[in-house]
Amino acid sequence: MSSEKKIIIAIDGYSSSGKSTMARALARNIGYRYIDSGAMYRAVTLYALRNGYVSEGTAPDIQAITAALPSIHIDFQVTPDGQDTLLNGENVESEIRTLRVSSCVSPIAAIPAVRHALVDMQRAMGTSKGIVMDGRDIGTVVFPDAEMKVFCDASAQKRAERRYRELTAKGAQVTLDEVLENVMSRDHIDETRDESPLRKASDAVSLDNSKMSIAEQDAWLMSLYNRTIDSLHTIHPER
Ligand code: DC
Repeated sequence: MSSEKKIIIAIDGYSSSGKSTMARALARNIGYRYIDSGAMYRAVTLYALRNGYVSEGTAPDIQAITAALPSIHIDFQVTPDGQDTLLNGENVESEIRTLRVSSCVSPIAAIPAVRHALVDMQRAMGTSKGIVMDGRDIGTVVFPDAEMKVFCDASAQKRAERRYRELTAKGAQVTLDEVLENVMSRDHIDETRDESPLRKASDAVSLDNSKMSIAEQDAWLMSLYNRTIDSLHTIHPER
């Protein structure tokens, strides 16, 4: 078996379903580039918060955000652990992970102009393949022809517990109830928005990792990758 053929790997799922952790590990193991598409929506949200185009508990100013899109430049800087997000050249990796950004990101990710701009950027990143991208619409909208698609889920309670541990480990002052409420409210907005709502692609493989350790989910994903590459070589032996 040869694993030389580069493919696109789409990993979608609910917030805090562990998809970024497993996507990042897979990319590292197989030498692919990892892209966290949620970080891009978070960076736009941070820009909107800083400029007063949105605030916690109020609807975003869609016109102002749409008009600002040409001034928002998002890049990634590769780090030993994955990637850091740059907003107009500033490293905002920590700031985009705060509950303040999490509380405002879903309504901003529902704005069609924001999605179109970010989807264009995401497709450009995939032109030479060899990427693992995680998000909500990667297998359905961004790369409907991705060779490997995974859809991750876990109970809201389990996902909130994971997020709570991550946030408090970084010193955030939050309660588990606040985090659970945020997880459930984002699920609802992500699933019911008009523009590319969160849903499983018909050809995605489902994974409920509620009861899996990180090592188990990494092994599961690696095995799916190996099977995918094997089947591509069987179908196209010349590749
Ligand atoms: O994966 P995350 O929690 O960092 O994503 C942040 C938000 O961005 C999430 O509420 C939904 C949105 N998102 C999206 O709509 N489409 C994507 N491809 C990635 C994230």
